[in-house]
Amino acid sequence: MSVKKWVNYYDKLDSLMSPNEYLIKVLLGNYPKKTSFLNSGSWREEFKNIKCLDLSCGDGRNIILLDKLGFDYYATEVNKSICEKVIKNLKKNNVSISKDKIRVCLNSKIPFKDHFFKYLISWNGIYYMNHENDSIENYFKEVSRVLEKNAHFICSVPARKCYSYSGSIKISKNIVKIKPNLNSKWGNNVLDNSIFYYFNSKSNLKKLLTKNFYNIQISELFWDGFGVPLHYYIFIAQKR
Ligand SMILES: C[S@@+](CC[C@H](N)C(=O)[O-])C[C@H]1O[C@@H](n2cnc3c(N)ncnc32)[C@H](O)[C@@H]1O
Repeated sequence: MSVKKWVNYYDKLDSLMSPNEYLIKVLLGNYPKKTSFLNSGSWREEFKNIKCLDLSCGDGRNIILLDKLGFDYYATEVNKSICEKVIKNLKKNNVSISKDKIRVCLNSKIPFKDHFFKYLISWNGIYYMNHENDSIENYFKEVSRVLEKNAHFICSVPARKCYSYSGSIKISKNIVKIKPNLNSKWGNNVLDNSIFYYFNSKSNLKKLLTKNFYNIQISELFWDGFGVPLHYYIFIAQKR
């Protein structure tokens, strides 16, 4: 993987810092097939001071939401300068995160102790493989390690028809090398040559999660995106 490309991408990004709409829905909405997090009925009560990790937080946009909801939030990114940029981005939005709460890591090793978090959010990040022989099973195991029993893993991953896979080259079963075409080039072609785990079905995803998680609820999102299809699985699972 190229850390440098992501550093350049975030360096040039004029960020809106707007949390993802579907993450708001997952955390606050009531849906028939969804676990409600709001046992007390009030998010002000439910999330207050609860430890939550935003794994691969990007520019920090979703931390704005975690702050609003009262979480005791932590974050990671792949490089120190991206973490510093996140601190700056947040500061401009009157949100603060101390240096020891935002740490550098890749998906393979999360730098927090066992059973530390009650929530872990991975928004479009867990499928970035460090290299083609790495294993998504190990990434899920690592997520589970830092969660306490029954804690929630909230995650978004691209699904079969997502634009990011178009033009990709199959390396092995469920592992692809991303080769963006005209419709999927963005961010100075930051995804070029990235190695992704390819989630080809809900059942494939569920099977991967079952070892470490229970109560797995998978929703599916599709938008034709004016010709650039966005197709995602958004799921919630609890640590066994
Ligand atoms: C599509 S962005 C999502 C960022 C953020 N979660 C959001 O929703 O805006 C993917 C992120 O994954 C990070 N990333 C890339 N390769 C990674 C790896 N091997 N392990 C962990 N994170 C990685 C990138 O730095 C980038 O910020």
